[in-house]
Amino acid sequence: MDDKSSMTPLLHGYKDVEGAPEAGQPTEPSPAPHGCDPAARKRKRRRILFHFFTLLAVVSLVTFHSRRSSRRCHKGRLAGKGNWEMDHGDEDHDHGYIVPPGVVLEKCTTWDGNDVDAAFWPPPHRGPGHHEEPTTSSAAFTVPVDKKLFFLSTGSLASGSFKLTQAEDRTGNDVNTKVDITTYDNGDSKFHDHILGLVRVCTISKEHDESAAGVGIFTPRWRWRGGGDPHRHWRSPHFDVAVELPRALSSDLASSDPLSISSFTTHLPAFTHDVQLPADGVTFKNLALTSTNAHIDAASIVAQNLTILTSNGAIKGEFTTSDKLVLATSNAAIDATLSLYGSDSDKATTAFLSTNNGHIVAATSLLSGSEESGGKFNVTATTSNAKVGLTFPQAPVKSTLKLSAHTSNGGVDVSLHPTYEGSYLLTSSATQNLRVIADENEADPEGKGRKRIVNNKFVTKGFVNGETYWESKDEKEDYWGSALLTTSNAHVTLKFEGQEVSE
Ligand SMILES: *[C@@H]1O[C@H](CO)[C@@H](O)[C@H](O)[C@H]1NC(C)=O
Ligand SMILES: *[C@@H]1O[C@H](CO)[C@@H](O)[C@H](O)[C@H]1NC(C)=O
Repeated sequence: MDDKSSMTPLLHGYKDVEGAPEAGQPTEPSPAPHGCDPAARKRKRRRILFHFFTLLAVVSLVTFHSRRSSRRCHKGRLAGKGNWEMDHGDEDHDHGYIVPPGVVLEKCTTWDGNDVDAAFWPPPHRGPGHHEEPTTSSAAFTVPVDKKLFFLSTGSLASGSFKLTQAEDRTGNDVNTKVDITTYDNGDSKFHDHILGLVRVCTISKEHDESAAGVGIFTPRWRWRGGGDPHRHWRSPHFDVAVELPRALSSDLASSDPLSISSFTTHLPAFTHDVQLPADGVTFKNLALTSTNAHIDAASIVAQNLTILTSNGAIKGEFTTSDKLVLATSNAAIDATLSLYGSDSDKATTAFLSTNNGHIVAATSLLSGSEESGGKFNVTATTSNAKVGLTFPQAPVKSTLKLSAHTSNGGVDVSLHPTYEGSYLLTSSATQNLRVIADENEADPEGKGRKRIVNNKFVTKGFVNGETYWESKDEKEDYWGSALLTTSNAHVTLKFEGQEVSE
């Protein structure tokens, strides 16, 4: 995903802003080699501060201008009509703001407590101005819970944490969102205000979808033309976004009913995600949490269509779905407890777990959504250079499981539930141990006193192909499963008892 290509810059660099003091004045940074010319660094630092001041001036100007013209001044554009709407796509700008296409900024906080639509906590907490002393400002927004909720951030100053919780007893239609921004002033008492002037935190909506509402954090996209990192001297600000869902829509609603949300999405790169929802508190139709370079932890997410995407950070948690679940990261582990509900339809409930250079450990309960059938399930787990460990603590009689587990340079340990009937294929390098373990005296899950048959049809070095069933294969094609377990340079073990395979 490339921010630059998929998003439209709306705000542009201070240089083109008419009437801004000293617009166009900054000189090109001199190409001094990194860190070896203290005078140049000092100049650069001064230049950076100058840029901040200039931007601050512009921000104040426009804020003043647009306030004068309208209270809801930010609707539709970062700052209404005027100097901010520059020609788009000029690559020479040092920085601009990116607003994804179709996203409308409704109302941006001014952090000053004078705003009527959102509550604020001025004055910001100020430390005594020591080096790296944190200063925090907060803004609060409410969004109706019956909307398609979305939260996003853009730009290179946006990183931090995102937390989703549910109120214990607050009822009503309000989703409360609090955004804290913390800066580290580095001895400069005005630094916090500079940063507040640079970021936009707004309620947002979508041009072509009236049912969408959320909160966005927009920060400049830096393109420093002098080379080097403009933030070298500063610690980036830190955002803490806390979203609290109501317990229920109305107070007379039976409190045992979970809150139902049609759509909830985040697109928050470099934000850790922490979801702390009570079991049976909320059900989502569509839920997608997306980040990069950050972990995603979830206590109890129940969603029909559930997507968790990040990179370079682990995914951990308990996930329940009745349709489709995707957990994908890179260079990090996935540790998940999954509950998959099957349905009467022929469509399989699917779970897709993917990473690399990190293990996948998942306990997956297959649960029947109906009396009629055991349900159809597809489970895929792929990684590399790490192990895959899958257990299936529950699975209904006559459920169909299509399982694939792939890795390399790491073992595969799979323990299927005793109800599993179907084929299996284990592959690894020729010298590795491939084992199918079944207990002769295993109890029949249907209680009919049948015996498990394990029939290894084809066994050669690095390859085992077989099938397993209770007593007879007859009339089982409707729910015949398959398990494909592959790795290289490591063992593969398949067991039929649901729980952990002990080595
Ligand atoms: C499920 O969620 C993903 C990610 O948000 C989305 O692309 C897909 O369209 C959704 N599927 C359905 C059936 O709504
Ligand atoms: C489930 O897996 C099977 C075999 O791998 C595949 O043919 C089928 O299309 C999958 N179904 C879904 C819904 O993913």
